[in-house]
Amino acid sequence: MGEIWIDGAVPLSGEVRIQGSKNAALPMMAAALLHEGVTVLHGCPQIADVRMMERILNILGVETCWKEHSLILDCRRVTGVEIMDDCASCMRSSIILLGSMLARKGKMKITYPGGCAIGKRPVDLHLMAMEKMGARIEEKEGFLLVEHSGRLEGKNIEFPFPSVGATENTLLAAVLARGTTRLINCAREPEITHLCHFLQAMGAEIGGIGTGELWVRGVSTLRDVEYQVPPDRIVAGTFLYGAAATRGKIILDNAPVEEMEAVLEVYEKMGGQWEYKGGKLLADGRKVHCSPGKVETSCYPGFPTDMQSVLLAVLLTIPEESCVWEKIFEDRFKVVSQFRSMGGDVVVEGRKARIRGGNPLRGTVVEAGELRGGAALVVAGLAARGITVVRNSHFIERGYENLEQMIAKLGGKIRFAEK
Ligand code: UD1
Repeated sequence: MGEIWIDGAVPLSGEVRIQGSKNAALPMMAAALLHEGVTVLHGCPQIADVRMMERILNILGVETCWKEHSLILDCRRVTGVEIMDDCASCMRSSIILLGSMLARKGKMKITYPGGCAIGKRPVDLHLMAMEKMGARIEEKEGFLLVEHSGRLEGKNIEFPFPSVGATENTLLAAVLARGTTRLINCAREPEITHLCHFLQAMGAEIGGIGTGELWVRGVSTLRDVEYQVPPDRIVAGTFLYGAAATRGKIILDNAPVEEMEAVLEVYEKMGGQWEYKGGKLLADGRKVHCSPGKVETSCYPGFPTDMQSVLLAVLLTIPEESCVWEKIFEDRFKVVSQFRSMGGDVVVEGRKARIRGGNPLRGTVVEAGELRGGAALVVAGLAARGITVVRNSHFIERGYENLEQMIAKLGGKIRFAEK
């Protein structure tokens, strides 16, 4: 357990390099299981969720090792089919192993997956797709048993609404299936596009990439691959908004600007200025002063739900009224009570938050309850006067690599304290 201590009200300034993407790396790690060989992920973020997924893969028999930021996954031997472990129940992404494990071993028994405290996160769409492809599913108290004999069958799978995880899982199940699988109304998030390109590099046959309708023609073998994990658009967005909240001016090296359109659009509406030059995002947040009006989270290319709480932190510093509508998750405003204890004026009604910004934020002791809400508290702490202590920093470590060191590099007065 740890705490992050911030002495705020210092404009961020300087340059940082954006880490590899958590949400791209995790499904790629699951995809490695499809191949009886060796996969190398370069630029893999050294964060708690990746370590946790590595631990789960180790339980299944995968040998792993790190060379700096390259993660080597030797999947020649996969001996286990059970993940009846705490790590599965505390990380929702463990469900992403289902498609690969069915393809590789024909069976998986897994503790019901957990995840962030942002409301109910069912896995019915994942199971619907697997069942349609021929798997039998038993749901018992606390765990899922999914199995089938022979090869999975390619089918037309239509999702009632786009789910990132269910799209990824179905893609993974389809790569080695018999015949062609069509994914209709699937998610279009950039991490899915990255997963498709990664699978293609492994030898998979996939079309419709970047659209809401993907097809996968099953192949019988894959090959060893070395792949660069793309940069994390949410981490880049967090730094961008951190600079906005402190009216700072920063340079983000390796920021995936082409995937950040909605985040940059809101940043511009708030008065932020930016340009992309020589592979770097130059962000000047010194003129941030006005409300972007109403912001709704939505599927890509809309405003990402993972940036919602970080946006709230910025809006608290703008002396106007704003409204944020959370349309993806049912209960993603838990951080608001912590903002209030810092002096923030936010009222939540159902899935909408009304923010009356401009009240001076003051440092106090706050508690992170989940990953992105925790990062948002750090951003609020950077903008606040006095000392903010963010407890439960382990939530933040799930997705941000050395966040304190990066912010310190940008001139923030911040340190980690063991608790
Ligand atoms: C992924 C991301 C997460 C991001 C989210 C939305 C990873 C590891 N995580 O999560 O950071 O916030 O996309 O962009 O990539 N749903 C169902 N049934 C299902 C699956 C989902 O009802 O079987 C619902 C969820 O409860 C949620 C919505 O669909 O309300 C979107 O969830 P989904 O896109 O699946 O998100 P995740 O894959 O969990």
